Amino acid sequence: MNGGEQVVNVIGLGYIGLPTALMLASHGIEVTGTDCNEELVGTLKAGKTTFKEKGLEELFADAVKAGIRFTTEIETADTYIVSVQTPYDKFSKKVDPAAVVSAVRDVLKAAPEGATVVIEATISPGTIDRSVRPVPKEAGREDIRRVHAPERIIPGNMVYELLHNNRTIGADDRAVGERVKELYASFCEGEIVVTDIRTAEMTKVVENTFRAVNIAFANELAKICRHEGMDVYEIIRICNMHPRVNILQPGPGVGGHCISVDPWFLVGDYPSLAKVIDEAMKTNDGMPDFVLNRIHEIMKENGLTDVGRVGLYGLTYKENVDDMRESPPLQLLASQERHLAAPLLTYDPYITEDIVPNQVHDLDAFLDACDMVVVMVKHDEIRENAEKLRGKVVLDCHNILDLPGVYHI
Ligand SMILES: NC(=O)c1ccc[n+]([C@@H]2O[C@H](COP(=O)([O-])OP(=O)(O)OC[C@H]3O[C@@H](n4cnc5c(N)ncnc54)[C@H](O)[C@@H]3O)[C@@H](O)[C@H]2O)c1
Repeated sequence: MNGGEQVVNVIGLGYIGLPTALMLASHGIEVTGTDCNEELVGTLKAGKTTFKEKGLEELFADAVKAGIRFTTEIETADTYIVSVQTPYDKFSKKVDPAAVVSAVRDVLKAAPEGATVVIEATISPGTIDRSVRPVPKEAGREDIRRVHAPERIIPGNMVYELLHNNRTIGADDRAVGERVKELYASFCEGEIVVTDIRTAEMTKVVENTFRAVNIAFANELAKICRHEGMDVYEIIRICNMHPRVNILQPGPGVGGHCISVDPWFLVGDYPSLAKVIDEAMKTNDGMPDFVLNRIHEIMKENGLTDVGRVGLYGLTYKENVDDMRESPPLQLLASQERHLAAPLLTYDPYITEDIVPNQVHDLDAFLDACDMVVVMVKHDEIRENAEKLRGKVVLDCHNILDLPGVYHI
């Protein structure tokens, strides 16, 4: 496919925008990638990627060969893909669409008549009606077409998922939706559904909410089983043999830019309706404190008194990535700090700069300094080096280690 000969400007070159821009460019689309962060654009122009991700370097090389350009200014294009951040307001829990609105304002300065603006960023249902539609209207640019094409990819497997995931495209006008579908079909081998904008907005948030609620259920089971002295992993394994049961795994909390954020949009917009979601999010947010309590219990049980010899393995929000946003280990450390406790040791193979106190940058040095290790992130590295944990007190928050005497959440 050639994407209908469209010229594309991707705005926001973070975890989502960069791989999307590279994927389009490496599949024959004329692409400019734009970000307001000059340093980030400088790095890309210098031929370097800005984060670690499986297959990203190769994709970057292909896109550069195909002629992708990186700029800090938005350019003339047929289609603009907006992939900027959409955090939630910590107090109201509602989506904060300011970055999307600002990017759309900037697009209008360069967009030719009839251009299409695709919002890829995750937004709550109704955000396009409330916050995006008024922008071209106020600027007298009713010719601009609006589309919502939410992204589903997961860090750690982004390149594969960009190629293979099914996608949703929401548009006011079916023909515009089909044209944007043609663009994504230049690289996407999955099924692409075209629907209306509000449905597309809702599906994206619902997908992440489903996972958040399911994880919260697993976390609640872990607490019940802890109380009863039962093995939650064995219970979930057996339950999941039922043909219509699929419980996710408990863990030390939920982080990242999706599952720990998007369900709050529904709580913020429908506080009297989204009760289960609200409780689920609180359950997940409470897990780092639950782990902190487990550390305390296990230290007491083993006669350990020196907090300075307890180490957290992993600082990122998930395995084999360098993304620390909303990460459970950072939540745990913040909670510890609030309780005026001395900081724990930390180590993460993906985090090379110092971001928290007492951070060690070598696995062996970290393990030498620890009497107790808390596996917060299941990086492949710790699975491969599991033998090095033998003889230590270990709290395995993911049930990945096959060692005698390992504690679980
Ligand atoms: N990270 C994920 O795993 C993931 C997965 C699916 C969907 N999403 C959604 O995708 C969107 C982007 O997420 P991300 O993780 O890539 O965010 P990010 O913070 O990594 O990247 C956003 C980028 O946009 C740039 N930016 C902001 N305003 C701009 C403007 N006006 N003009 C130009 N550049 C601008 C920022 O400088 C930044 O580099 C969010 O809505 C997120 O919820 C993220």
